[in-house]
Amino acid sequence: MRAVITGGAGFIGSHLVEALLTHERFQSVTVIDNLSTGSLDNVKRYENNKKYRFLLQDLAREGEWMSLSGDILFHYAADPDVRGSVIDPLRSFRNNVISTINAMEMARRGDFNVIIFASSSTVYGDAEIVPTPENHPLKPISVYGWTKLIAEEVIRSYAETYGLRAVILRLANVVGPRLTHGVIIDFFRKLSNDPKRLEILGDGTQRKSYVHVSDVVRANLIILERAVPEKGVNIFNVGNEDWITVREIASIVINEMGLRDVDYIFSPSDEGRGWVGDVKFMLLDIKKIKNTGWKPLYTSEEAVRDTIRYLVEKAASRSRPDGEP
Ligand SMILES: NC(=O)c1ccc[n+]([C@@H]2O[C@H](COP(=O)([O-])OP(=O)(O)OC[C@H]3O[C@@H](n4cnc5c(N)ncnc54)[C@H](O)[C@@H]3O)[C@@H](O)[C@H]2O)c1
Repeated sequence: MRAVITGGAGFIGSHLVEALLTHERFQSVTVIDNLSTGSLDNVKRYENNKKYRFLLQDLAREGEWMSLSGDILFHYAADPDVRGSVIDPLRSFRNNVISTINAMEMARRGDFNVIIFASSSTVYGDAEIVPTPENHPLKPISVYGWTKLIAEEVIRSYAETYGLRAVILRLANVVGPRLTHGVIIDFFRKLSNDPKRLEILGDGTQRKSYVHVSDVVRANLIILERAVPEKGVNIFNVGNEDWITVREIASIVINEMGLRDVDYIFSPSDEGRGWVGDVKFMLLDIKKIKNTGWKPLYTSEEAVRDTIRYLVEKAASRSRPDGEP
């Protein structure tokens, strides 16, 4: 099989690239990325791998890349910044919606059989049912959430009109090595600058579910083997069975950084949210994907802890003369 991964130089995408390159069923893995939030550092170790190819392209611009052919498209490129989407909505629509239309056009022209799309728990907004099942009404409260919902519908329209087979994965908060955004990164940066004081966006009671990136990669591979529909779209939540508060995350980060006596300063927005568009409570119902045989191997807490350990170790290796971990 020939795979194309958009956003393959990003956090989740680069872990997927790694898994596909070692998977015997994939004869080629092509990454398309404009490096807007991703980095070549995430993929440079594959440069000499004959199965691997990198295309520096902006998916929001039509181009020759749209005549690529392949078997499976993993569409992971997007601007993942939920808070930033409210500040700069056009950037979010451009990278998340226009890019998806162009990627689907490539899939249609290039005879791709299967599309796997990284959607998000934010499509549910403030869910009335928690844990939230896939058939829950979709009412996003951030621009980012809207862009993901529109992108889902773009994929549905292409799948149903042109006979493509698509899987939409609604991901909870994904964390792990190479993470570059979100609450753990925010806390780590703030505490590296000032180890005595931590500004917490929101009232700290926000409670959400976290899933380790290795569990997400496994979900992609299991779904590909067992749950691609004969036609149309199949939708799965990918998350954890537990959740964790922002305050608990702060204490894990402080503990793993070896800090003590840190003062918390809360800056709550409306109803204790972290910012406009922040969903305060998020726990996905994962029964459907568990029926495929997949289950998360890390709890939310373990996933958070593994991420902060990675960040601490990376910072320590940078300060060592040989730079080795
Ligand atoms: N990390 C999470 O918690 C999370 C949760 C739910 C969904 N997702 C989704 O998973 C996907 C990957 O997220 P991530 O956390 O790895 O983010 P990331 O920023 O690390 O990866 C996104 C990649 O897409 C690339 N990209 C963005 N716009 C592009 C464009 N116009 N053309 C080409 N490349 C472009 C970036 O350079 C980057 O490499 C995204 O679609 C995101 O919305 C992530």
